[in-house]
Amino acid sequence: MPERMPNPGLVAEHALFAPAAGRLAQRYALTRLARPPASGYYLCLGAEGLELRLAGEHTHGPVRVDFTAGAMAHRRRFGGGRSQALARAVGLKPGYNPIVWDATAGLGRDGFVLASLGCRVTLCERSPILAALLDDGLQRASLDSELAQWVETRLSLVHDDAAAALAGLSAAQRPDVVYLDPMYPPGKSKVLVKKEMRALQQLLGEDADSAGLLDAALASARRRVVVKRPQRAGTLDKRRPTASVASKKTRYDLYVTV
Ligand SMILES: C[S@@+](CC[C@H](N)C(=O)[O-])C[C@H]1O[C@@H](n2cnc3c(N)ncnc32)[C@H](O)[C@@H]1O
Repeated sequence: MPERMPNPGLVAEHALFAPAAGRLAQRYALTRLARPPASGYYLCLGAEGLELRLAGEHTHGPVRVDFTAGAMAHRRRFGGGRSQALARAVGLKPGYNPIVWDATAGLGRDGFVLASLGCRVTLCERSPILAALLDDGLQRASLDSELAQWVETRLSLVHDDAAAALAGLSAAQRPDVVYLDPMYPPGKSKVLVKKEMRALQQLLGEDADSAGLLDAALASARRRVVVKRPQRAGTLDKRRPTASVASKKTRYDLYVTV
């Protein structure tokens, strides 16, 4: 497992962005920096929104949550719609869109796909870095002419540990489906993983407590818990799922709770 890095600080790219950077820093308890560090990760608020950047020699491009363009827009248009494995695993049916808690929201990609297909999705993320990136991505999506009509009604963000947040839901608030995609330990392969995953692995490390999260999810989901795993990985905490849905690189293990 790669060594976990300390939380990055937040800089404003220009004085114009300083007030908004101050608000984000306060909301997510991030350290404000006057200027970028010489090396390591830092957050930068600028014209393109909030970005996670890597300073120094072995750098890569910025990581941001952008629901309006690039990979997310492509996945929304050409990702297979309601017949894609993720939608089948979560249980979307003609005329039925489950209410979903994405308890490991990360960069919000899976949750966004489910919301784009009609589900109401709560994105729950405990990392302040990822929660700040999601917050910024959702704000920009709500200003986009194509997404504005549904993003605000279908997607909401909770910055908390999901096991605690799920345990605190009232009976009426319990979701139909809890979706889990905890960080999986990186393989021994030398193949370079995408910059987003590399950044997450270095900043967050492995989610070693995901067995407890599965218990909280099973206690809260009205219909099912869905766990995303790499295709060849074992099941979470070696627990036998009710069924699995496989796609090319990914497997979704289903734990039915009704
Ligand atoms: C692999 S990423 C999820 C990627 C996400 N499915 C996507 O589509 O972008 C896992 C994320 O889950 C978060 N996480 C893990 N355990 C959590 C918990 N108990 N509560 C809230 N967030 C959690 C981690 O901080 C990390 O950001």
